[in-house]
Amino acid sequence: MAQIVGGIGTSHVPAIGAAIAKGLQQDPYWKPFFDGYVRAREWLAEARPDVVVMFYNDHGLNFFLDKMPTFAVGAAAEYHNADEGWGLPVQAPFPGDPALSWHIIESLAAEEFDLTTCQEMKVDHAFVVPTQLLWPEGGRPVRIVPIAINTIQHPLPSPARCFKLGRAVGRAIRSYDEDLKVLVLGTGGLSHQLDGKRAGFINKSFDLMCLDRLSRFPEVLTAYSAADIIEMAGSQGVELLMWIAMRGALGDDVAEVHRNYHIPISNTAAGLLVLECRDAGRQPGRLRTAWPLRV
Ligand code: DHB
Ligand code: FE
Repeated sequence: MAQIVGGIGTSHVPAIGAAIAKGLQQDPYWKPFFDGYVRAREWLAEARPDVVVMFYNDHGLNFFLDKMPTFAVGAAAEYHNADEGWGLPVQAPFPGDPALSWHIIESLAAEEFDLTTCQEMKVDHAFVVPTQLLWPEGGRPVRIVPIAINTIQHPLPSPARCFKLGRAVGRAIRSYDEDLKVLVLGTGGLSHQLDGKRAGFINKSFDLMCLDRLSRFPEVLTAYSAADIIEMAGSQGVELLMWIAMRGALGDDVAEVHRNYHIPISNTAAGLLVLECRDAGRQPGRLRTAWPLRV
């Protein structure tokens, strides 16, 4: 059976892709950020996942305001990158895993999730930049199943719904009848707002609380609405939903391996969290409820 080796949450700012293209990893502005990924790559070298299931949010490359799925699962043999306007070098296609994609889709549909299934899906910086950070030598040892969550067109899914989606994806992976090691990724966040009156907004205390809660007692975050998260983390900080979905997939018995938090990268509070599953075979437990905390 497939097992989940762990999960990683990481920011996905396009300027990171530009810094990689220019080789700026040792530059004083970038060094504390890139150094944060050394431990993540060491852990990945030990965990050796075969497949990544990646929660990410499309920024207008594959989906636009005319048609915006809440949850879209990739079922392609490969995923093509394109430049959605940041001028980043276009990366070679990424291999998919259609058999695992369809297993996840079947399993989620059986659990009453209404999905969009994508046999073609262009992937933007939110998908590409984390792969460059985690597999920088271009090694990309893994196939990828992308799951896009809408953070653009309101109404957005709630944190509780994303956590439940993650749990259902975790059950789907663990019921897959192949001896695969699966890593779950969530990309986006942490707090940031790119436009409007609060452009440049960052909320460090909220971010640090979220990192703590993602590590232990993540159910607490499901008491927020998407609007609460926008209020506390900025309108693009709602990308935290990807981290919540990732965490849902991991189940209850999780150990924190590593974290990094660095302000700012471009306009964003850059976060990294590496979590290892100690219960690779077990099913996620029941959802607990909690009062919303305002930070
Ligand atoms: C930035 C952050 C993002 O998450 C994104 O998708 C685009 C830009 C930024 O901080 O520049
Ligand atoms: Fe983003």
